[in-house]
Amino acid sequence: MDKIRFGLIGCGRIAQRHAEIIQNMGILSAVCDIKGEKAAEFGKKYNTKTYSTIDELLSSEKDIDVISICSPNYLHCEHTIKSLQTGKHVLCEKPMALSVSDCKKMMIEADKSGKDLLIVKQNRFNPPIAALKVILENGKLGKILSVQLNCFWNRNDDYYKNSDWKGKKALDGGTLFTQFSHFIDLLYWLIGDVKSVDALGRNFIHNNTIEFEDTGTASVEFENGAIGTINYTVNSYGKNMEGSITVFGEKGTVKVGGQYLNVLEYQNIDGYEISGLPESRPANDYGFYQGSMSNHEKVYENVIDVIKYGGIIAANAYEGMKTVEIIEKIYESFKK
Ligand SMILES: NC(=O)c1ccc[n+]([C@@H]2O[C@H](COP(=O)([O-])OP(=O)(O)OC[C@H]3O[C@@H](n4cnc5c(N)ncnc54)[C@H](O)[C@@H]3O)[C@@H](O)[C@H]2O)c1
Repeated sequence: MDKIRFGLIGCGRIAQRHAEIIQNMGILSAVCDIKGEKAAEFGKKYNTKTYSTIDELLSSEKDIDVISICSPNYLHCEHTIKSLQTGKHVLCEKPMALSVSDCKKMMIEADKSGKDLLIVKQNRFNPPIAALKVILENGKLGKILSVQLNCFWNRNDDYYKNSDWKGKKALDGGTLFTQFSHFIDLLYWLIGDVKSVDALGRNFIHNNTIEFEDTGTASVEFENGAIGTINYTVNSYGKNMEGSITVFGEKGTVKVGGQYLNVLEYQNIDGYEISGLPESRPANDYGFYQGSMSNHEKVYENVIDVIKYGGIIAANAYEGMKTVEIIEKIYESFKK
């Protein structure tokens, strides 16, 4: 098979990362953005064809193999379904969608089309996180007793004012969808499914810019009996402070922290030591704010492995749906 041909939907901030990587690993055949000037600028920078709607792109570009969806959260379901219906594989940015019912529609369409649906969860590739996954799977920490997830970032009013969808409940979904869905995914991926949740959320200082919580706290019970807490806020003063997970097992304790779950901060494991970790890559830098680890090339390596060589999807649609389900449980609990 020749190089994989990609189409990209939405020419915003994260799309730049996708485009750079696609150009290194495949062919960027076409892009689209409803804002014509954005599509044009992007098309010029990456020397590719441009469209202003996904429908035009999909009906004109018959040779594209994979559509990368980088549009706002509320469009992921519609854009994924349209792409699958025209016979394309889909790589969808996180969050997979804004409701479990939309995720299910996407999964049904992937099944019908026989095409692959992959979700971007690049933080799973952070070296200390990947090492933690291995020792959990090998049982090195013994029975898992409890876990603590901390997400302390800064998003100021300008961040929301500069966007026509971020901060709006129906378009963005909430702080757990846009800022911290990667972290919720890791909780599910590392510890397991969530049985019950008790949570509180407040909007303390973003009442003029966001329609949902800027801070939340949740107590969680997992299906395997472990318990845990999630503490999150976008009110860390002035800058991002911490993204961390601490796992307490019968035979060991591990904390992966730093600002972006990129540093092995603590380990004390019975008869074992995590060592020789490769250096973590820097965070995605968007100019006036920083996001998650920039491991998107690992995501694309997986896309190519899956499509060319029948490899296993690193983050599949079921797992994408599970993250959305946990977030829904937390937001449901706010209402109690
Ligand atoms: N994996 C990560 O770490 C990561 C990081 C940042 C963003 N994201 C996700 O990527 C997505 C985009 O985020 P962003 O920060 O780049 O947002 P953005 O607002 O910078 O970009 C979105 C783009 O989509 C375009 N768009 C809107 N409606 C469209 C439509 N109907 N058809 C085509 N284009 C349309 C907008 O004009 C805009 O250019 C979001 O879902 C976000 O959660 C993921």
